[in-house]
Amino acid sequence: MTSNRAHHDIRALILAAEGDAEQVVREVGASRTAALLVGELIDRADLDDVQGLNHTPITVVFDLAFDGGTESHHVIAGKTAEHHPGAPASAHATIEVGLLELLRAVFGGWRSPGCQNLRIQWNDIEDVTALSSSMHVFQVVQRLVRGTTDQQADLSELSLRNGSDKWGLHYYTPHYETHFGRLRDRPLTIVELGIGGYGEPTAGGASLRMWKRYFPRAVIYGVDIFDKAPLREPRIHTIQGDVSDPAFLRSLGEEIGPVDIVIDDGSHYCPDVISGFRSLFGLVRPGGLYVIEDLQTSYWEGYGGSSVRRDDPATSMGHLKRLLDGLAQEDQEAGGVEPDEITRTLTGAHFYRSLAVFDKGVNQEGPSPSWIPRTRMTYEEMVDVEWGGDGLKADSED
Ligand SMILES: C[S@@+](CC[C@H](N)C(=O)[O-])C[C@H]1O[C@@H](n2cnc3c(N)ncnc32)[C@H](O)[C@@H]1O
Repeated sequence: MTSNRAHHDIRALILAAEGDAEQVVREVGASRTAALLVGELIDRADLDDVQGLNHTPITVVFDLAFDGGTESHHVIAGKTAEHHPGAPASAHATIEVGLLELLRAVFGGWRSPGCQNLRIQWNDIEDVTALSSSMHVFQVVQRLVRGTTDQQADLSELSLRNGSDKWGLHYYTPHYETHFGRLRDRPLTIVELGIGGYGEPTAGGASLRMWKRYFPRAVIYGVDIFDKAPLREPRIHTIQGDVSDPAFLRSLGEEIGPVDIVIDDGSHYCPDVISGFRSLFGLVRPGGLYVIEDLQTSYWEGYGGSSVRRDDPATSMGHLKRLLDGLAQEDQEAGGVEPDEITRTLTGAHFYRSLAVFDKGVNQEGPSPSWIPRTRMTYEEMVDVEWGGDGLKADSED
């Protein structure tokens, strides 16, 4: 199974989960759908919090009804959690639910009714001796089932849990909640520049995993100069490339198409931050966001910045400050900002400590009406203003 196929399947299931998903499940395959759903539930379960799994691993079977048959898949929760097709001869519990019902509950968004028809068989419920050594089965099952309903974990907690520095070293997560909250339940495409872990292929990816939990229906792309393929998961894809290479930035757009959110946490080198923004802001869909982290580097010589030339457009902040003129200044004839694709589609800018968030939309309102005086009125003129059908008239204009 190539990674491309994996996230093509998951995206198809996410999009289908809000409606009639039967045909898509047939195309993806019932067994593969079961594997993707159970894998997702394990991710959401935080099973490493459950005591006792090191001593006594717990096996839970999912019996998922589909097309008149049953697709079985099981979880073995020990030091780590694994999942496999089929049902072993003995298990601690069996969760029975329809495959389509489970798909809607996991990927159908927060308005989905959850699993109304889910039933649990506790296999040792009559055997007190067996049960006493595996009481933690109740927690394991409760946590697996929780993933069908409760997906609204706090982002700062997810940051700490996944080892991301977006809360604790930096304090970005509250700002992210402010801007990302309204999008959380949508089937999104998200790109983060910079995966983390540098040259070690298996290290990094903390924020990719955090975003995966925070956005339960998103497909997340991580971009890094190093190969990070071992970090791929069904909803996480890694792409190797150098963000300072314009040809790579162009090919990125061709590979992943329109996106909802870009987060630049890559090299933090001013020329890369600027060229990344100029190349990738165009990929963001209207209503989407472009975020740049660690803007303190704009003042560091070693990152192409300067603490003296603070308005120099060759520094990240100098460049971004100029964008603000495009938001407010209207009059071209007064030497206003020349509109380009970025100024025409940038509708908001929010600055926090070392962090900036840009809104994508349509910024083509045109200038204020010509009858609005371009010179500030005196107090006497303001007193004498008459309100008529033609708008505001100062006496001095009569
Ligand atoms: C700060 S870490 C990213 C941390 C990650 N975003 C997180 O929050 O978990 C920066 C990453 O950017 C990568 N990087 C540095 N220069 C790059 C470049 N020119 N192109 C792409 N990635 C680069 C590094 O390999 C490193 O893994």
